[in-house]
Amino acid sequence: MKSLRYCSTSTFIIIFIHINILVTHAEGVDPVIQLPRSGLKRTRTRSKWVLSVGDYGAKGDGLHNDTEAFLEAWKIACSLSGFISVVFPYGKTFLVHPVDIGGPCRSKITLRISGTIVAPQDPVVWHGLNQRKWLYFHGVNHLTVDGGGRINGMGQEWWARSCKINSTNPCHPAPTAMTFHRCKDLKVRNLMLINSQRMHLSFTNCMRIVASHLKVLAPAFSPNTDGIHISATKGVEVRDSVIRTGDDCISIVRNSSRVWIRNISCGPGHGISIGSLGKSKKWEKVQNVIVDGVYLYNTDNGVRIKTWQGGSGFASKITFQHILMENVSNPIIVDQYYCDSRNPCKNETSAVRVENISFIDIQGTSATEEAIKFSCSDAFPCEGLYLENIFLASCFGGNTSSFCWQAHGSARGFLHPSTCLSSSDDRIRQNVGPKKSSFPPNKHSAYRTNRQKISQKQ
Ligand SMILES: *[C@@H]1O[C@H](CO)[C@@H](O)[C@H](O)[C@H]1NC(C)=O
Ligand SMILES: *[C@@H]1O[C@H](CO)[C@@H](O)[C@H](O)[C@H]1NC(C)=O
Ligand SMILES: *[C@@H]1O[C@H](CO)[C@@H](O)[C@H](O)[C@H]1NC(C)=O
Ligand SMILES: *[C@@H]1O[C@H](CO)[C@@H](O)[C@H](O)[C@H]1NC(C)=O
Ligand SMILES: *[C@@H]1O[C@H](CO)[C@@H](O)[C@H](O)[C@H]1NC(C)=O
Ligand SMILES: *[C@@H]1O[C@H](CO)[C@@H](O)[C@H](O)[C@H]1NC(C)=O
Ligand SMILES: *[C@@H]1O[C@H](CO)[C@@H](O)[C@H](O)[C@H]1NC(C)=O
Ligand SMILES: *[C@@H]1O[C@H](CO)[C@@H](O)[C@H](O)[C@H]1NC(C)=O
Repeated sequence: MKSLRYCSTSTFIIIFIHINILVTHAEGVDPVIQLPRSGLKRTRTRSKWVLSVGDYGAKGDGLHNDTEAFLEAWKIACSLSGFISVVFPYGKTFLVHPVDIGGPCRSKITLRISGTIVAPQDPVVWHGLNQRKWLYFHGVNHLTVDGGGRINGMGQEWWARSCKINSTNPCHPAPTAMTFHRCKDLKVRNLMLINSQRMHLSFTNCMRIVASHLKVLAPAFSPNTDGIHISATKGVEVRDSVIRTGDDCISIVRNSSRVWIRNISCGPGHGISIGSLGKSKKWEKVQNVIVDGVYLYNTDNGVRIKTWQGGSGFASKITFQHILMENVSNPIIVDQYYCDSRNPCKNETSAVRVENISFIDIQGTSATEEAIKFSCSDAFPCEGLYLENIFLASCFGGNTSSFCWQAHGSARGFLHPSTCLSSSDDRIRQNVGPKKSSFPPNKHSAYRTNRQKISQKQ
């Protein structure tokens, strides 16, 4: 109740009714559907097979190593033709060691996880194996993963060994619970992913992905436990999901495009991030992203674009709209000076360009005064930023403010805090908004403060 009193958004809900739907969901509807137990026998119709891992030796007692049974069932499913289901039955717990599941398959496979799949607790199991992967699927097309069950990474031991938890620990990689690499026409839905060793769900170099009705849960303190990570992937829809973890709810990196995110409840965690981009002088391009209908609660960031100095490429044509925030630390943030490194980052003369980014209809409460922060590059200032109907009040009753450094664009509608964007008539113009732009009265001092902050970073 305390949080409601100090960080309530309820008054805005009346005004912005369409977001209300999201809040209702965030407060208790469990989207995970549980399937009935019946019908899991191996049956055959004309071209439809159902293979249960139990028929290949899986015990499902949580102790026996069920990896071989899974691999065996998969091998058969992959070699048949038609539509094949591989089932992890309801009510059982299957211990699965790190696995490598490769395609292509002749069949179209549905991996129906109705029970629970758990990882080995002890990181020692990964000795001599790829430390970055637990359930690794690659080169499989037309795969569907569903079933209403759980995938539990048992990450506690990995977190304790993380250098982000205890800086005396050496920095080692940790496994992503489910990785899909070079998969086309993939659906992942109706699943709960919990306590991953590191990221929960990662799509790399994939095409045409739908991730929906997922519940992703890990404690707020768990390090690097991103919910859904999208990398070098084209054509992605992520929707109708609840993500509460210790890192980004959704992160979009490396040459990804056509990404549509909608109806997501996020928090705790680090919000929705584009990037980081441009680390180690990489050329990267993320474009055509729509984030539409997100409820963010107690997150470290709201909607964010982060790039390292020295990189190149673009983050462009990105729209964040219909977003409700409650107690969010950096509600709107573009940071072209991102430096998540033990050593300070040098000033560079190149940058990943940030262009044509819209923020529309974003309301709620900010846990920090600086509710809007555009910290853009001296070498490549942000162009075509656009703000429309923003209302971000302080959690603590004080003022909120905007911060701009090298940030060009325009604004329209109701704006609180007021915009500090400067117009860029002589340069590239924003493609959505009007040409008008407004300046804060104390632009000069804002610039000075900014200078200081930027130099503190270095
Ligand atoms: C579990 O089974 C897999 C597949 O047979 C095997 O590679 C792995 O070594 C087994 N792990 C242990 C700890 O027995
Ligand atoms: C960090 O790890 C060191 C060495 O393992 C240990 O002595 C110390 O107590 C740990 N600190 C915390 C805060 O857990
Ligand atoms: C939004 O997502 C939730 C699950 O998080 C789902 O229950 C609800 O039906 C979705 N809303 C719409 C309008 O699809
Ligand atoms: C992104 O794509 C470009 C070419 O389109 C390529 O040069 C670059 O290496 C890619 N970057 C990454 C990080 O994959
Ligand atoms: C606001 O969020 C932070 C986490 O970012 C949390 O520690 C704090 O308790 C929250 N405050 C309220 C009033 O909910
Ligand atoms: C809030 O900040 C704005 C500009 O950042 C300023 O114009 C206004 O006077 C401030 N209001 C209060 C109550 O401090
Ligand atoms: C941004 O939009 C402008 C105007 O539509 C266009 O000229 C420019 O190429 C766009 N920038 C990027 C990086 O797409
Ligand atoms: C980097 O640039 C900032 C602002 O332009 C300047 O204040 C700072 O001294 C520079 N740092 C280095 C290490 O050159």
